[in-house]
Amino acid sequence: MKNTVTDRAKYAAAAAAVDYVKDGMSVGLGTGSTAAWMIKCLGERILEHSLKIKAVPTSVSTFELATQCGISLTTLDEVGLLDLTIDGTDECDENFNMIKGGGAALLHEKVVLAASSQRIIIADSSKYVKTLGKFALPVEIIAFGWTSSKQKIECLLNELGFSNFKIDLRQKNGVILKTDENNYVLDLNLGKIIDPILLSKELNTVPGVVENGLFVKLCDLLVLGDISGGVRALHSESGKSIESVVDFGTKI
Ligand code: 5RP
Repeated sequence: MKNTVTDRAKYAAAAAAVDYVKDGMSVGLGTGSTAAWMIKCLGERILEHSLKIKAVPTSVSTFELATQCGISLTTLDEVGLLDLTIDGTDECDENFNMIKGGGAALLHEKVVLAASSQRIIIADSSKYVKTLGKFALPVEIIAFGWTSSKQKIECLLNELGFSNFKIDLRQKNGVILKTDENNYVLDLNLGKIIDPILLSKELNTVPGVVENGLFVKLCDLLVLGDISGGVRALHSESGKSIESVVDFGTKI
């Protein structure tokens, strides 16, 4: 596939983030197009620096790409906890709350991020937003009785004061999309999410909901790339922001 202009921004963030991967680490690998750049950059870094790392993929697609890139893989059960995870995001707000799951891997991504000591989120700078919700919020639900779970979610959203929302069952090429865990995904078009922490808690109380795509307190460092190679790394704890530039060379 041909690279887009946004790919340069994704590449910049990905290339900057892999510098944090050190010899001997166990590393979680996210899913999506930005994570795919990171996996390619990581494969190159492993070769250049003879790094010995063990990585845990968050999806079948990431497993396949990481294997092609020569990254040695393991399972979360094998390592238990991870030193570092690098993953993408669909939106991230100024409090480092995120919407994830555009690639339908939110369940494994949340488990892997929660098991990591350090969490680096990479994105092109358009994903950094004031308020979450322009991107539809993915919610993973079991297939059994999904219409009833959808109705329960509608009631909940009404109770929480949401109006004019729309919920879509995610499809791919005209068929219902199934996650790597064989579940369905509902996309909640909400417009604005004022209290992501409350919404996340409430959604997970609905019977049939496995997990939702609001990620709270799962980002230690947000690495934002732009198309000219500029990178801004924002630390959630200290509030520090560090700027650098990635040299694209002939890479992209
Ligand atoms: C997959 C995700 C991805 O990280 C998110 O959708 C961002 O993807 P991309 O980098 O392709 O924009 O959460 O479930």
